[in-house]
Amino acid sequence: MKELNILKTTLNVGLDAPVRLLHVTDSHICLANDSDAARDPELPGHALSRGNAFGGEEQVESYLTQALEYAKKENIPLLHTGDLYDFLSEANFAYMEQTLSSVDSIYAAGNHDFCHFVGRAIEDYPYKWENLRLVQPHVKQNLYFDSRIVGGLNIVTLDDGYYLFSKGQEEMLRAEAAKGYPILLCMHVPLYTPLLAEKILEKNPCAYLVGVPREMYTKYPNDRRLQQNPDRATLEMMDYILSEPMIKGVIAGHVHLNFEEPLSNGVMQICTHAGYAGYAREITIV
Ligand SMILES: [Fe+2]
Ligand SMILES: [Fe+2]
Repeated sequence: MKELNILKTTLNVGLDAPVRLLHVTDSHICLANDSDAARDPELPGHALSRGNAFGGEEQVESYLTQALEYAKKENIPLLHTGDLYDFLSEANFAYMEQTLSSVDSIYAAGNHDFCHFVGRAIEDYPYKWENLRLVQPHVKQNLYFDSRIVGGLNIVTLDDGYYLFSKGQEEMLRAEAAKGYPILLCMHVPLYTPLLAEKILEKNPCAYLVGVPREMYTKYPNDRRLQQNPDRATLEMMDYILSEPMIKGVIAGHVHLNFEEPLSNGVMQICTHAGYAGYAREITIV
């Protein structure tokens, strides 16, 4: 098995004492057991082909196991920003539960956390809310929005896996800011920046980012434009995030890239490459 690459990044937010986290994202575990096969006979084949596309299930699990061992050895929380598995199955739920309970963990949902079978359904907002009922019982964080204060740092997690924020999430984030602790905002899909969009568009027909401007998403293929054009609540949330002085850092995944860049207000956005590709990032917040 290949060795996990653990990147090291320091984020300055003005804490009295450092807080360390191990950021892992997009593991894309692909498992299906007998009961999954009985429910959907196509699922084992799907698990195998998807797993092979991610570099082989055994290797992917080995990378995640190595990350868990590192978090345990260093006694630091695991921050996983979604797509821990690739599709809904009992086997994937069991794996997720075991993973997240084996260490001190914080989880933010990804788009695949709500997907029954990749490519089979239109994954729109009602689809997500229907499937949230299946996923949520397996995760201790509230997947819509949650927060936890660690060493004076407010770690806020929220769901933006379908390229949308809601007004309710903005209101909850405002309430978190009012607590007066520096906020580390953690979610699956990164916030749009021109540079990150440009990098992703080099190899893709769309940018896979939240809050993309109109002149960009109108050039997307039709299905991607419908999926990724931001609504009013999303754009208002983007404006709020960029204007809220208590938000000191943004951590994301989804784009399967290592990318660190200041947002337009100077706050760093850190994206870590996929767990299946052998990456994790130790973030020291000072
Ligand atoms: Fe992913
Ligand atoms: Fe994703």
